[in-house]
Amino acid sequence: MPVINWKLPEMVSAAYAPLFNNHSRYLVYKGSRGSGKSEAQATKVIHDIVTKSYVNWLILRRYANTNRQSTFTLLQKVANRMKVGNLFQFNSSLPEITYKPTGQKILFRGADKPLSITSISVETGNLCRLWVEEAYQLESEEAFDTVDESMRGIIDDPGGFYQTILTFNPWNERHWLKKRFFDTDTRVDNSLALTTTYKDNPFLDDDYVKRLLEMKIRNPRRARVAVDGEWGVAEGLVFENFIVEQFDLKQVLKDSVIVHGLDFGFTHDPTAFIEAAVNTKTKDIYIFNELYQIGMLTPHILKWLVANGYQNTEIYADAAEPRLIAELKANGIRRIKKSKKPNGSIMYGIDYIQGFRIHVLPKCLHTIEELNAYAFDKDKDGNWLNKPIDKDNHLMDALRYAMELLIMPHVKTQDRIEAFKQLGLGR
Ligand SMILES: Nc1ncnc2c1ncn2[C@@H]1O[C@H](COP(=O)(O)OP(=O)(O)OP(=O)(O)O)[C@@H](O)[C@H]1O
Ligand SMILES: [Mg+2]
Repeated sequence: MPVINWKLPEMVSAAYAPLFNNHSRYLVYKGSRGSGKSEAQATKVIHDIVTKSYVNWLILRRYANTNRQSTFTLLQKVANRMKVGNLFQFNSSLPEITYKPTGQKILFRGADKPLSITSISVETGNLCRLWVEEAYQLESEEAFDTVDESMRGIIDDPGGFYQTILTFNPWNERHWLKKRFFDTDTRVDNSLALTTTYKDNPFLDDDYVKRLLEMKIRNPRRARVAVDGEWGVAEGLVFENFIVEQFDLKQVLKDSVIVHGLDFGFTHDPTAFIEAAVNTKTKDIYIFNELYQIGMLTPHILKWLVANGYQNTEIYADAAEPRLIAELKANGIRRIKKSKKPNGSIMYGIDYIQGFRIHVLPKCLHTIEELNAYAFDKDKDGNWLNKPIDKDNHLMDALRYAMELLIMPHVKTQDRIEAFKQLGLGR
């Protein structure tokens, strides 16, 4: 066996020392983008396995199939960096990692398959460590509880203890994680909640830091979370009435119409496509598919639409790009249409959508991000304006186009705008 000579202070920054010396039942790290959370926590996973023979890890993400690309690969990289990669067996098809000298395991699961979690057993030691990576994506506190509760029983090792680590970007202050681990009045006992930023990560390159700092000027609302690691604020959001949750699409589709919207971008803005089921009776919108990608040329968009089965669907697209629409139409997306986009229609469409409750599947990550960021502007005295900031609105615009079909369908556009102005909402 090689001599292991780890100098932790050189391997992770001081902000992550609690991972290695604090025995709280819960260690919770919220933080900015690139603050080093995942790398430091991966270091702890390997460190605990090698130094504590009773430890087995369960690594949880919202979706099981995202582990292989993220946590599994990261652990492989970190084990190699710690010069112990050869002591582990990496089975990427399961995925699963085994510590060869003892048989201790690092297991990977998703909250989308809860049954596969309650039945876990390990060959040696105890399943006593849980890492919930990107915990913000766990919209259901109950799902977390179910997994967390599966860590129980007597640990044979006299110094043994259970520990759950959560790492995430805190996009919205209304998340259950805030009440449970951060708010003084409600947080659970035996927990330590910490915040890290890019400043806690000495391994970042200057370009990345520069881009983060630019965001503070360009998009301060997003920067609050992505650069400063603070909770995203809900005040001033255009759509407050949304909920991220799993729903049964088959059930939902029974009483709904499906709508599609497409917003074009290229260098800085993404091409954004959204698919939703709308129940106009109960006033519910169910968003269940999205595309969000920068740098897409017309052939790429075409290919994506065809590959995903949207060749014959009615799609309302950004009227500002008639040429792209014509190209897509000429190439077989035969029911693509220009959204009408009459003057004053932005607030008109928003007002209409505000009358609905929006449900979003957790996999629609960019839609969730935009819903958490799309906000009204303020005047110079800090008063809210009846006008959204022209940012974080690509999927939001696509949703507005998609809903066009349903907005007072029997009334002429001009009359609709008039009606809307009379409500005092037009511009
Ligand atoms: N301990 C470390 N050793 C070497 N490189 C590191 C370390 N920590 C972070 N880095 C570098 O910094 C980058 C960002 O770190 P990391 O991915 O851990 O941040 P994060 O806080 O998880 O970010 P996000 O919120 O975006 O998930 C890594 O891709 C890696 O290049
Ligand atoms: Mg991370």
